[in-house]
Amino acid sequence: MKSVFITGGTTGIGMELAKLYALKGWRVGVCGRDEKKFTENFRPQFKNVSFFHADVSNREELKNAIKTFSKIDGLDLLIANAGIGYKFKTKVPDFEQSYHMVHINLLGVMYAFEAALDVMIPKGSGQIVAISSIAGYLGLPGVSAYSATKAAVLKFCESLHLDLKQFNIHVTAICPGFVETPLTARNNHSMPFLVKAPRAAELISRAIEKRKMVYAFPFFFSSLVRILGAIPRTWYKYFMKIKMFNYSRE
Ligand SMILES: NC(=O)c1ccc[n+]([C@@H]2O[C@H](COP(=O)([O-])OP(=O)(O)OC[C@H]3O[C@@H](n4cnc5c(N)ncnc54)[C@H](OP(=O)(O)O)[C@@H]3O)[C@@H](O)[C@H]2O)c1
Repeated sequence: MKSVFITGGTTGIGMELAKLYALKGWRVGVCGRDEKKFTENFRPQFKNVSFFHADVSNREELKNAIKTFSKIDGLDLLIANAGIGYKFKTKVPDFEQSYHMVHINLLGVMYAFEAALDVMIPKGSGQIVAISSIAGYLGLPGVSAYSATKAAVLKFCESLHLDLKQFNIHVTAICPGFVETPLTARNNHSMPFLVKAPRAAELISRAIEKRKMVYAFPFFFSSLVRILGAIPRTWYKYFMKIKMFNYSRE
């Protein structure tokens, strides 16, 4: 039986991915900080999904969870999905919140990859995936720390995609646009091209199957964002005055 461990798999994109793999017959492990969310969303139907209490910003806690899960029959796929996001209401970033976000969104991904590689390198195969964001392509106003963590995750994955191929380990970065989840339910700005979470999970699992280096979706919105990431910065500043992109104006 194939096995996948998903960080932050109790709600949103991670939960939909966990359900999708469970329905395919995989053994699934998810972690989170709140077991109640897991019980509400997975019990009684999903017997092949188990919960591990682990905060991804705690290296030892996460390492133990992934090690314990992998002891039964290894680890074929790791999805480092857990992440948080919020918009700064002031022009000066809240640095405490920024550091917190770095611990979860960036170090949390590194800790998960480290623990997965401890299992996959001796085994000689595996696949590791991180959920970045299309925000990783741009320095967006109001979300400086979020954009920075997601850009770092994207580049971390691109490098590792090249480095780890020799160990038969495939690395993918996923860059979603807006997906309907508890995280985006808090947004009070417009969310163009919003994708339903089960559809997002389907698209992500297809990209994982194809072992893509980077997969951004939905196609039109992510293409637009990538163009904005590549044009001269003077033009970028002009486009950021347009309401569709400048969330901090709303
Ligand atoms: N939704 C979007 O539009 C969107 C777009 C681009 C990228 N993303 C990225 O996709 C990922 C999932 O987002 P989502 O929208 O599905 O969010 P969500 O519904 O808020 O789910 C986040 C999950 O992460 C867990 N989590 C949060 N902090 C954690 C921590 N410190 N340790 C362990 N688990 C933690 C949460 O469980 P507990 O609270 O129980 O810990 C929950 O299971 C994030 O990395 C996010 O940045 C989302």
